[in-house]
Amino acid sequence: MTLIIRPEHPADHAAIRAVTQRAFAPMAYAGGNEQHLIDRFREAGALALSLVAERDGVVRGQATFTKAFAADGSAGWYALGPIAVEPDLQKQQIGSQLIEAGIADLRARDAAGCVLVGDPAYYRRFGFKPFPDLCPDGEPAEYFRILPLRVKAPQAVVSFHPLFQGAA
Ligand SMILES: CC(C)(COP(=O)(O)OP(=O)(O)OC[C@H]1O[C@@H](n2cnc3c(N)ncnc32)[C@H](O)[C@@H]1OP(=O)(O)O)[C@@H](O)C(=O)NCCC(=O)NCCS
Repeated sequence: MTLIIRPEHPADHAAIRAVTQRAFAPMAYAGGNEQHLIDRFREAGALALSLVAERDGVVRGQATFTKAFAADGSAGWYALGPIAVEPDLQKQQIGSQLIEAGIADLRARDAAGCVLVGDPAYYRRFGFKPFPDLCPDGEPAEYFRILPLRVKAPQAVVSFHPLFQGAA
C-alpha cells in the first residue's frame, strides 16, 4: 500500500505517542519521555509542524519540527525531533520521506534553517552539517547539526525550544 506523508490530525495523537514510544524504547540514548514531549510541544503551541507517515490507514511514523531561536534574533529557525518510525518498518525510507517532506515545507516557509541533535551519519544525507561553534550550551557539539536553508552561512548560536530541557 502507498505511504502517505501528511500533517497530523487530532485523531493521530495516540498513535503518534505509541509509535514514538516503541521506536525509542530500544535506543540507549532515549530519555524515555519522547512521546510525551510531542504532547507538551502541542499543548504549548510550540509544534511548528508534525508530519505523519500513514500506510493502510495506520500511523507508521512521525516527524516533529519545533521553533528554534537564533542568538542574533534572526527569524525562521526550526528544530527537527523527535522523529520515529515503527521498529519493524525501519530502513524502508519512511524516515527519509518524513524528513524530506518536512524540509520541503520549511523551504516553502522560507525558513532560515533547521537544527537537530542526532546521528551525523544519518542526517548528513539530508544536508545537515556540523557547526560546533554554533552549538547551544548543554548540547553535544559532536551531534549538533544545522541544515542551512535561506541562511547559507549560519553565524549565530541556534537554541532549541526550552521544553527540550531535560527531555533526553
Ligand atoms: C531514525 C529513524 C527515524 C530512521 O527512520 P527509517 O525509516 O528507518 O530511515 P530510512 O529508511 O529513511 O533510512 C535508512 C537508512 O538510514 C540509516 N539509519 C537509520 N537510523 C540510523 C541511525 N540512528 N544512525 C545511522 N544511520 C541510521 C540506515 O542504516 C539506512 O541506511 P542506508 O540507507 O545506507 O541503508 C528510525 O530508525 C527510528 O525511528 N529510530 C528510533 C528513534 C530514533 O532514534 N529517532 C532519531 C533520534 S535522533
